Amino acid sequence: MTALSVLAQEVARRRTFAIISHPDAGKTTLTEKLLLYGGAIHVAGQVSARRRQRQVTSDWMALERERGISITSTVLQFQYGGCVINLLDTPGHQDFGEDTYRTLLAADSAVMLIDAAKGVEPQTKKLFAICRERKIPLFTFMNKLDRPSRNPLELLDELEQVLGLGVYPMNWPLGSGEQFRGVYDRSSRRLHLFERRAHGATRAGVEVTDTHESVLRDLVDAQSAAEFRESLELLEGAGASFDTDAMLRGEVTPVFFGSAVTNFGVQLFLDDFIRMAPPPSVHALRSGGHVNADEERFSGFVFKIQANMDPRHRDRVAFVRLCSGQFERDLVVRNARTGAAIRLSRAMRLFADTRESLETAYAGDVVGFANPGSFAIGDSLYEGAPLEFPPIPAFAPEHFASIRNTDTASYKAFAKGIEQLREEGAVQVFEPWQGSAYEPILGVVGELQLEVAKYRLESEYGVRTEIIRQPYSLAMHVRADESAASALHLPSNALLVRDWEGRAIALFESRWALQLAREWNPQIDLAPFAAEVAA
Ligand code: G4P
Repeated sequence: MTALSVLAQEVARRRTFAIISHPDAGKTTLTEKLLLYGGAIHVAGQVSARRRQRQVTSDWMALERERGISITSTVLQFQYGGCVINLLDTPGHQDFGEDTYRTLLAADSAVMLIDAAKGVEPQTKKLFAICRERKIPLFTFMNKLDRPSRNPLELLDELEQVLGLGVYPMNWPLGSGEQFRGVYDRSSRRLHLFERRAHGATRAGVEVTDTHESVLRDLVDAQSAAEFRESLELLEGAGASFDTDAMLRGEVTPVFFGSAVTNFGVQLFLDDFIRMAPPPSVHALRSGGHVNADEERFSGFVFKIQANMDPRHRDRVAFVRLCSGQFERDLVVRNARTGAAIRLSRAMRLFADTRESLETAYAGDVVGFANPGSFAIGDSLYEGAPLEFPPIPAFAPEHFASIRNTDTASYKAFAKGIEQLREEGAVQVFEPWQGSAYEPILGVVGELQLEVAKYRLESEYGVRTEIIRQPYSLAMHVRADESAASALHLPSNALLVRDWEGRAIALFESRWALQLAREWNPQIDLAPFAAEVAA
């Protein structure tokens, strides 16, 4: 077997995806069940238990514990049915849209998890908009059918009406709430009945049967049986066949019903997912053209940087999505931004909060590298001829605050902490257009990021700070040279600042103030940031 064919085979069996959902829909639970079925853990509960344990041992996590949210995200790799699955765990809290956005750039498909009692929720919509923009295939898992749920047909209708998404139910629930017994798999025409377990810690017992009237009558009450029959007739009568190409373009979503907590439908979902989700294929380049995943040379991009993930290893980990070729330890690559050659020696695979060193990885995989200072978010890494992936857009910040170091003796640590938080993409940093004292202005998408920044500066860099909220809500690029920007005529409640690359940015309190500035400076383009969080 040639080296290339091993690479092609390894790429073909990779599935790299993220789960998107509104907080509380059951993402942690589903993740855990996928790991259970993938054999990566043996008893469900381990991941949450680890999380809890980590919350106790890590200062970093104290804030997370207080707020009951997940700030960090990890990459989980497991094998199932001959596939290598990379599950990119996205933070669930709505304040972390930026981080989630960057994670979705590294995924080849996404699973949209919906609480069947609630349907499409605000955060689902936001994240869906990002998937739609990227045109990535989207799988839908309707969760919590073991609780009283909305009518399944109504839920499908909502996906079509609210998200404008075509739907194709892969299976259909028999009963809901107390009456939920299992799901009917449409392709095999078999009913999968599950044994209900209190916490679904181990795999659920399954019995596969037909949908004969007498079978249904033994399982659920007459009304549930009738509803089930009618829905099936409706679906089969509609006669639509599944359009794989439309799914690959993200226009049609296969829908699965189940209950993550009781393991109902989890395995059926996983079996179809690995069969239908695309392996890594092509990545577009900034200059046009693309790289193929099974090209031999290594390429990838940094989509996330995280410092001090673990107090036992106070370092910074850059997460790289491999787009082509293969990684071997000590591989020497170039960083397109700096032109520098970097030896990739400290590579690691992370699983929950444990890390192990990694020798080999293939396109589609995500590898953490602990090379201090070598990487920034969006960096393209490559072997061979230079290449560059499109830049990762910065989100338009919506909340602003100046941050003051209250202990002047720790100036260096303050400046270093701010710079590192900026490189991680945890905050955007602006400086007053004129002025000497270093009192940066932080810009964030979600307000909670300000609190996290303050907390981390104190716990990781030993710097006490004061956050002074500023009334701005809009940041615009001032497309002008230094002197024209300085001469900009702004309303009194607006502020001219510099971003970290020295570019002029104007901050406004309202659209109205922006409109005024546009009228006063018709010759200057006040341009929005490249990426706006989809509403
Ligand atoms: P998230 O990561 O999306 O925020 O959600 P998470 O998995 O933490 O689940 C949120 C709550 O929903 C949890 O309950 C979880 O047990 C429950 N849940 C998840 N999947 C299902 C399901 O299929 N059916 C039912 N009935 N509940 C489900 P909790 O009370 O907040 O926590 P816990 O004490 O149960 O862990």
